Amino acid sequence: MELDLEKQYADRAYPILASLVTPRPIALVTTLSAEGKINAAPFSFFNVLGANPPLVAFTPGDRADGTPKDTALNVRSTHEFVVNLVDEAIAEAMNLCAASLPFGENELAHAGLTAAASTVVKPPRIAEAPASLECVEWGTLQIGGNRVVLGIVKRIHLRDELFDVQKKRVNGDKLFLIGRMASPHWYCKTRDRFELIRPD
Ligand SMILES: Cc1cc2nc3c(=O)[nH]c(=O)nc-3n(C[C@H](O)[C@H](O)[C@H](O)COP(=O)(O)O)c2cc1C
Repeated sequence: MELDLEKQYADRAYPILASLVTPRPIALVTTLSAEGKINAAPFSFFNVLGANPPLVAFTPGDRADGTPKDTALNVRSTHEFVVNLVDEAIAEAMNLCAASLPFGENELAHAGLTAAASTVVKPPRIAEAPASLECVEWGTLQIGGNRVVLGIVKRIHLRDELFDVQKKRVNGDKLFLIGRMASPHWYCKTRDRFELIRPD
């Protein structure tokens, strides 16, 4: 099977790619509007892209009418955001944050999540998230209807049990993140792990 995304399957690019390139991590992104209103929305077109400097990216796609999503608007006006990682415990709340609420309405309250103060950026982090990355926008690439937001991570908050201070390493066996699977409604757990030692 070969699919031509430029012609026959051009209008199927989203469901095909989003169901094929899986699992994807989910960023539950918190931002503030220019007026200081909190916004939260999940994005699975997301990943960490580098460590020097610590770089993340996520992509809000423009709405069908061509207007940017609230998260993209807020990043454009305030240049800051927080990536909250999503574990099994907050999966349903994350999903509630994807509801299209009117601009300026607080998805966190709608989802029963709690805003906690960040340290170096103004948007709050989510208290219930296992880990949160405070980010400053490096720039946003506008590629067609995709707004690829690139951010530099300035601070990481994570639950005490998730970090081994002696080894300076994350305790992965206590981290139960979920992944995005086939579009639109499927997810996976990340409990089924195996080790593969890299050859020298
Ligand atoms: C798990 C999940 C992942 C999502 N990933 C994306 C994404 O990568 N890009 C996107 O534009 N929308 C994505 N969405 C939809 C947005 O979260 C949704 O449009 C949201 O209402 C945008 O909120 P905002 O207007 O407050 O920014 C996703 C939704 C869910 C549930």
